[in-house]
Amino acid sequence: MECAEKMSEEKIITSLLTEKRVFPPPPAISKKAWVKNMAQYREMWKESIEDPDKFWGKLVDSITWIKKPTKIWDDSKFPPIAQWFVDGKLNTTYNAIDRHINEGKGDKVAIYWEGDDPNDTRVLTYNDLLEEVCKFGNVLLKAGLKKGDKIVIWLPMIPELVITMLAAARFGIIHSVVFAGFSAGAVKDRIIDSNARILITADGTFRAGKKIPLKEKVHKLLEETPSIERVVVVKQVGLKTPMKEGRDTWWHDEIKNQPTECVYEEVNAEDPLFILYTSGTTGKPKGVIHTTAGYLIYAAYSHKIIFDIHEDSIFFCSADIGWITRHTYIVYGPLLNGATEVMFEGVPSYPSFERYWEIIEKYKVNIFYTAPTAIRLLMKEGEELPNKHDLSSLRILGSVGELINPEAWMWYYQVIGKEKCPIVDTWWQTETGGIMITPLPGATPLKPGSASRPFFGVKAEVLRDDGTPAAPNEEGYLVITSAWPAMLRGVGQNPQRFQKTYWDRFPGKYYSGDGAKIDKDGYIWILGRLDDVLKVSGHRMGTMEIESALVSHPAVAEAAIVPKEHPIKGHAIFAYVILKKIITPTDDLKKELKNHVRGEIGPIATPDEIYFAADLPKTRSGKIMRRILKAIVNETDVGNITTLANPQIVKALWEDYQLRK
Ligand code: WT7
Repeated sequence: MECAEKMSEEKIITSLLTEKRVFPPPPAISKKAWVKNMAQYREMWKESIEDPDKFWGKLVDSITWIKKPTKIWDDSKFPPIAQWFVDGKLNTTYNAIDRHINEGKGDKVAIYWEGDDPNDTRVLTYNDLLEEVCKFGNVLLKAGLKKGDKIVIWLPMIPELVITMLAAARFGIIHSVVFAGFSAGAVKDRIIDSNARILITADGTFRAGKKIPLKEKVHKLLEETPSIERVVVVKQVGLKTPMKEGRDTWWHDEIKNQPTECVYEEVNAEDPLFILYTSGTTGKPKGVIHTTAGYLIYAAYSHKIIFDIHEDSIFFCSADIGWITRHTYIVYGPLLNGATEVMFEGVPSYPSFERYWEIIEKYKVNIFYTAPTAIRLLMKEGEELPNKHDLSSLRILGSVGELINPEAWMWYYQVIGKEKCPIVDTWWQTETGGIMITPLPGATPLKPGSASRPFFGVKAEVLRDDGTPAAPNEEGYLVITSAWPAMLRGVGQNPQRFQKTYWDRFPGKYYSGDGAKIDKDGYIWILGRLDDVLKVSGHRMGTMEIESALVSHPAVAEAAIVPKEHPIKGHAIFAYVILKKIITPTDDLKKELKNHVRGEIGPIATPDEIYFAADLPKTRSGKIMRRILKAIVNETDVGNITTLANPQIVKALWEDYQLRK
């Protein structure tokens, strides 16, 4: 009901489309591609929707099973839960590593790791990876962990992150990775929520040459997490680190004498593989559950088809998004495909804004997958920087995480891809596990700014408020009406929340939270979130999370977070704050509040601006009308304000914003 109100009251941000050209796939790409033209795409898509058993059944042999499934999917509980490859048994890590070694590819490079400092590099072949995974796997076994237990991982983008994930998956231990840019408080919350037995972290992380502590920050908080029995700490930056006797140990000490071989556990197709927390409209971030076989097959297949992965491909996913992108397209997809990839610890601006271009040149990257916020940032630095580098190895470019404006698309296409690399603008979510809407590089004619068409197994629709289908070009709610193998199986232990968040708004259909329209050619145009979720530099955050962080400060009575359009970050975070009566508003207090949010959630949640206000626009039932504040900071029409309890405040806030901006 809440969404329905929003849709009618609030106009979705209109697309900034200025580029009307359509770019056909380059013939050289189509020739080699797994999907070569639209006719082939259409035929395959039709089969995937009309006969999922047949379509996904053909992919059963794309992985190795301990026991092959006899049932491709079970829709008896769908919606909301479809189960895939139901009675199969397998092992994730075996499929990501051992299988390639058994096929004679042990010496193939799995990961070229490039540190924050360009001189800091590591190369891991599939053989190396297996040794490391086994060593750490034996540590987990020695600690008494077993199938179904949970571990929390708070590590920077270093090989140990991948090693830990795969070591856990080798025994059916469920991992929950926390983005290194989040605060220690977020780590604590996730440990408590998941009841994790072990935390794997590092002394710190390098970011643009600076050492940022990790372990030290979480140390005290671990007194409040009784489920944690052990903490293993990677020495990454060489910071002095508090260690608790009997609980905390160093990674290098732990693995020192461990055998480089280890057994693996048989896991059921529908056993959970990982939990990943993501922000929604209400409450604390929710733990999205992904299971094993369906997720893996979808991860590998989508990676192969969408990025057109072949035996010699070098894939580089840089997306500065510490979440699902990393799981599906840095860990599981590429490694299941036995591919070679580049993993990067640092940021695009260090030591200079040429860093990505240097990496592409150095490793002869063929497929580069990043986020629009990075493209916009680098575009601002001018084309001289990429032009200094040989980027001719590139074949395919990818974009993920937020809307890519046609200007950034064109720059990416012309300056980076030299008009010979298709851009796959991939739409998906933590919940979907893998890419859902995307062009296929050898088949789909590209319209800049459109994620184009659904991937195999995905049926996407745009609906009106009342659930009827929107007309071509009419803006509405994006829903998915099919079941797909990588779909989430739940949030936390809370089936009601799962049902209510995703399946009740349009009964039986997966509600994405995004607005979209479909043009007369069938191209899908994503228009951004319709709920109270922000996308700041591709990072997903709930307004309520940031508001709760602000209100937890003793000076704050009430807070409202609104997104302001930002040329690079997508959204900037604007905070309206009502202080408690006796508190004096000062600039120092603003700074303090920003730091407070930073400490509570992490640097990415820091408000860009804080406005102190005496009152905020509210409905008669006392709900803060964020859409009005959003209109004020974006200088758009505030719309109908007659239903407010205090309409006079709108003019005052508008004038105040104009004065202070
Ligand atoms: C939200 C999901 C996808 C993995 C990383 C983000 C936005 C994602 C696109 C795109 C426009 C996009 C949506 C979505 N989004 N991809 N290609 N074009 N918007 O996963 O953190 O779960 O965020 O990201 O708003 O709902 P996430």
